[in-house]
Amino acid sequence: MSTASKGLEGVVAAETEMSFIDGERGVLEYVGIAIDPLARHSTFEETVFLLWNKRLPRRAELDEFSRSLRGLYPISESTAALIRAMPADAQPMHVLRTIVSALALEDPAPNATEPDAVRAKGLKILAQAPAIVAAFDRQRRGLDPVAPDSSASFAENFLWMLNGEKPTPTMARAFDACMILHADHGLNASTFTCRVIISTLSDIYSAITGAIGALRGPLHGGANEGVMVMLNEIPSVDAVEPYVMGKLQRKERIMGFGHRVYKAYDPRAVYLKTLAKQLAEDTGNADLYAKSSKVEEIMEREVAAKGIYPNVDFYSATTYHSIGLKLDLFTPMFALSRIAGWTGHALEQLEANRLIRPKAEYVGPHDQPYTPIDER
Ligand code: ACO
Repeated sequence: MSTASKGLEGVVAAETEMSFIDGERGVLEYVGIAIDPLARHSTFEETVFLLWNKRLPRRAELDEFSRSLRGLYPISESTAALIRAMPADAQPMHVLRTIVSALALEDPAPNATEPDAVRAKGLKILAQAPAIVAAFDRQRRGLDPVAPDSSASFAENFLWMLNGEKPTPTMARAFDACMILHADHGLNASTFTCRVIISTLSDIYSAITGAIGALRGPLHGGANEGVMVMLNEIPSVDAVEPYVMGKLQRKERIMGFGHRVYKAYDPRAVYLKTLAKQLAEDTGNADLYAKSSKVEEIMEREVAAKGIYPNVDFYSATTYHSIGLKLDLFTPMFALSRIAGWTGHALEQLEANRLIRPKAEYVGPHDQPYTPIDER
């Protein structure tokens, strides 16, 4: 009988002061503050300060933090040249992973692991990731990059660089709320990856690059794109029932549902659902919201008893679509925000570092002869 904990389910492998998650009751707090009021009333910049400093900033502190972040928006000419070298048909997550990795090459001390150095490097990666995604997306559309606006918030600046026009306050607010909701979430797969890498005393660029790779998978951050693919495959609200039932009968997964930790409604999905509805109505996407809500209704009837509810990815798909984002930008949006959590976890790991090195249970044969190659 194997003693391996498959998927490390239930294993506590780190301490954190950032996110508290109660999966049974559907609770998520950042530094003790419930996610819902944060999503409704905070800003992404304030939330990053909260996660990195374990307290809310005073106004002057937030101004100073925002100034530092915004001052780092412009990417270097060598980063811009690397983005120009990316093939037009590359997937944005691969581009983001590649260019974030390359940011280490312009850092004179990329390997520094002192807290101030890691924080400064994390801040720069956080500040520049939006420009990387926006410039690549414009380039593949045959458009020139748009210079960042250092007077704009993280959310406004991204939408400005992507579209070349200022977002409406509603759009900027909705995007900012999405960034808050995705910023941190305990020891999820990409954060674990980040902590494993930094625990070897490797560098923050490697840790975040690895985390982006882990996030891309369809069982993790890639699920938001999977949700949109599914909604596009369903032609109408009436077609939802046979589509979902067919998938469940074939034992296929419905993207955007289920969670390793939540066995109740994902608290991030609560506000996202409201946001998705309002934005869909405002942008002529009411049919998309209607399909989403029908999927949820059927899943509630069929599988809620097993503890399978919408997760953060389900309503973020409709929200991002209504904001006007292309399908393959959905997972990069998750990454833009989660860089905050990854950096915070890297700092926490380094504060009391011990190499993360679990064991594998060997289940193969023993005492095998070595057969020379020509005799096999
Ligand atoms: N649709 C249908 N059935 C599901 C789903 C789903 N989305 N998720 C879980 N189940 C069922 C499984 O078939 C299994 O049923 P069984 O016991 O009858 O065999 C049971 O629920 C348990 O599933 P596991 O895979 O063991 O649960 P695990 O904790 O390993 O998986 C995961 C969690 C990977 C998120 C899973 O729910 C899933 O694949 N969801 C779809 C992908 C998704 O939305 N991922 C995003 C997660 S949130 C995030 O990373 C930001």
